[in-house]
Amino acid sequence: MSFAQQSAHHPSSSAKLPSRTHTCGALHLDQLNQQVRLCGWVAKRRDHGGLIFIDLRDRYGITQVVFEPSCPDFQWAEKLRSEFVIQVTGLVRARPEGMVNPRLSTGTIEVVAQKLNLLSEAQTPPFAIEDETDVAESVRLEYRYLDLRRPYLQRNLVTRHKMLQIVRRHLDENHFIEIETPILYKSTPEGARDFIVPSRLNPGSFYALPQSPQTLKQLLMISGMDRYFQIARCFRDEDLRADRQPEFSQIDIETSFLSEEELFPILESMIQKLWKQILNVDIATPFPRMPYHEAMSRFGSDKPDVRFGLELQDLSDIFAQSGFQVFQNALAKNSRGIAGSVRALVVHPSATSQPSEQFSRKDLDDLTKVAASYGAKGLLWIKVQEGGELQSPAAKFFTDTEKSALKSRLDLKPGSLVLIVADKNKVVFDALGALRLNLGERLGLMPKTDIQNARAQDFAFLWVTRFPLLEFDDKENRYFACHHPFTSPRPEFFDDFIGGKNLDAIEASAYDMVLNGVEVGGGSLRIYRPDVQAAMFKLLGLTEQEAEAKFGFFLQALKYGTPPHGGLAFGVDRLAALLCGVGPIRDVMAFPKTQRGHCVMSSSPSEVDHSQLQELHILTVKSKSS
Ligand code: AMO
Ligand code: AMP
Repeated sequence: MSFAQQSAHHPSSSAKLPSRTHTCGALHLDQLNQQVRLCGWVAKRRDHGGLIFIDLRDRYGITQVVFEPSCPDFQWAEKLRSEFVIQVTGLVRARPEGMVNPRLSTGTIEVVAQKLNLLSEAQTPPFAIEDETDVAESVRLEYRYLDLRRPYLQRNLVTRHKMLQIVRRHLDENHFIEIETPILYKSTPEGARDFIVPSRLNPGSFYALPQSPQTLKQLLMISGMDRYFQIARCFRDEDLRADRQPEFSQIDIETSFLSEEELFPILESMIQKLWKQILNVDIATPFPRMPYHEAMSRFGSDKPDVRFGLELQDLSDIFAQSGFQVFQNALAKNSRGIAGSVRALVVHPSATSQPSEQFSRKDLDDLTKVAASYGAKGLLWIKVQEGGELQSPAAKFFTDTEKSALKSRLDLKPGSLVLIVADKNKVVFDALGALRLNLGERLGLMPKTDIQNARAQDFAFLWVTRFPLLEFDDKENRYFACHHPFTSPRPEFFDDFIGGKNLDAIEASAYDMVLNGVEVGGGSLRIYRPDVQAAMFKLLGLTEQEAEAKFGFFLQALKYGTPPHGGLAFGVDRLAALLCGVGPIRDVMAFPKTQRGHCVMSSSPSEVDHSQLQELHILTVKSKSS
């Protein structure tokens, strides 16, 4: 009989024993001397003085199996290789003294094999299935099904599963109903490009995959569903990053007749349950709230990581009369009457083991590159010398009044380093916000969480509120909705909105939930009057015809008795990553895509047959670069 023939097609079971009696993580001294049957993968085979030791692995753990020469299947055990799938019947026995492995839940016992059943052979895998791995991610993604055998990824997927069960229970208990909405749909603008799908039955017409179920959930409120949720797949064709995938999931929520004050506690208590039931951490509620303008001016970000200081300082008033051209340009009003600012980050010698003289030229060049990648035209540094004098490329432009104002405002001491960006506010905030995070990391100010032993103070939750409703795009010379075009202005700005006045100052009833510098969720109260919604589309530059073609059905629906409504969507992947204590959301997704949007395992996207394209009435054109 060959090795392959020894393999049975199915695990054997008998009246006495089922196909498996225990998982590989279950056995300990309680089962001593019992006959058991385990199934799993060969994680390791070691031959020792005539004995063969197998580490048998499944989702639940690892159990050591011993084949003694007296075992009738010993010859087959000799042929086992990594990742073969086997069924083993045997007796549980205590490990000899000194051989106990405290790192394994099954470390006190081993199973002495009586029978081996080979269920599947395996080719040598391209990498060892272990938590510690330095194999390139591209290889692991190509063989994702093997990568997913690693306990690390299995744990993450289990945590994600638990999280979704807790969410479903919580929302069900709070009278939310889970409703599925279509994937083949129409453009739902969330600020990214659409993925589109051609319709064979309607030549030349396309569906768009939803960037979120936004209009659909609002229509469900018009339908009287009152409280909706969905674990919704969303599709966005945008530049990818560690916390962004082209398709991802949301816990999508919408409610009728609730104010922010009534909605927030429902969401906060859901988060509380997740942290309690998964990490055994008690999170305090209500979460602090921070207006958008405060978040930007203190942290340079609408998703501030408030676990450490290093806050931005506004120096615009000090340099209002500056002779330095860079500052003058930044502070001058633009054609729309809006001035930029001069702001700084200050690293004091006490905040770090790295006083300013230890910031080398290269360090400063690196920081300048970070600022430049956010559009800053430069990064001006000032170092405070031992004697207190200011050293800087622009020192000659500073007056004595400016210097002393700087010293007292920023509490400068010998060794302090000041980093300044002067530009329009968006650039100043983006650049200094990113530099703050970079320095927070570099100087060890950003706390690291040991997720196994996490404590409440490791999690800085907050709501960012009072977002601007509109953002002016200089290049396109028009307004965009900061959140999405269905978000309502705050009631006190209604008149200005309808009258088209002071548009830059209008605040939205929009809010984001932020945790440790990650936007975990975002939402708003919605416009529910058809005339206000039409005014919004007009403001965003849509002609009546365009508004009709894109959103006519929605404007129509608003006319049939629309309840005041609002909601929010959490990023499932981001929440799961935070609960697992991992960085990139890829690590909590079963089959993620690369930064280029590829699935390297299945080689998608890929070309399709000419005939398929013909059926869809599609001609492809080769771009010049290809
Ligand atoms: P928003 O666009 O803010 O709001 O998205 C809600 C949350 O979804 C997560 N998220 C992402 N996660 C992974 N990859 C992405 N590409 C990605 N994009 C967003 C974030 C974000 O906070 N319809 C509105 C919600 C509403 O108004 O109710 C919406 O989609 O965690
Ligand atoms: P320049 O006048 O271009 O020689 O720049 C003098 C110094 O100002 C250099 O250190 C630049 O990096 C810095 N600088 C230039 N533009 C800006 C800006 N917008 N904000 C802050 N610093 C700048």
